[in-house]
Amino acid sequence: MAIPAEEITKVVESYPKDRRHSLAILQDLQRKFGYIPREGFDILAKYLEIKTAALYAMATFYRALSLKPKGRHVIKVCDGTACHIRGSSILLDSLKRVLGVKAGETTADKVFSVETVNCLGACAIGPVMVIDEDYHPKVKPDEVEKILDAYRKKEQPNG
Ligand code: FES
Repeated sequence: MAIPAEEITKVVESYPKDRRHSLAILQDLQRKFGYIPREGFDILAKYLEIKTAALYAMATFYRALSLKPKGRHVIKVCDGTACHIRGSSILLDSLKRVLGVKAGETTADKVFSVETVNCLGACAIGPVMVIDEDYHPKVKPDEVEKILDAYRKKEQPNG
């Protein structure tokens, strides 16, 4: 579903008309909508009088910014060296089996997105999986389903 242009404009125009704020505005759009809609680039480029391509370049450079809608819960699997040795790829296989998506994808119901990240600085508790802001340490492949169920429950009205 497209995001109304007025909503995007409201976020954009809450900042002074100054190019210095382009990254902050992109981050704000990301926070508000979960990704940066295509129209967001056009509206922002017009507002700041800069090229849309420059904003795209910025958005693709910063991994935290996304051009595609993400799921309501973002699963980050650390694939740094320590976590890799401790089985992060088996963890990703397990997520694929349970959710039907691989890293970089979002489930059809838009509940979960899966991503890989580099070292999260928590190597001693690897393999680490972070869902939203929650760290799940030493995750075993057979625990994945149970962990995800807890987030699915939050989606239900009385969860
Ligand atoms: S390699 Fe995963 S937390 Fe450091």
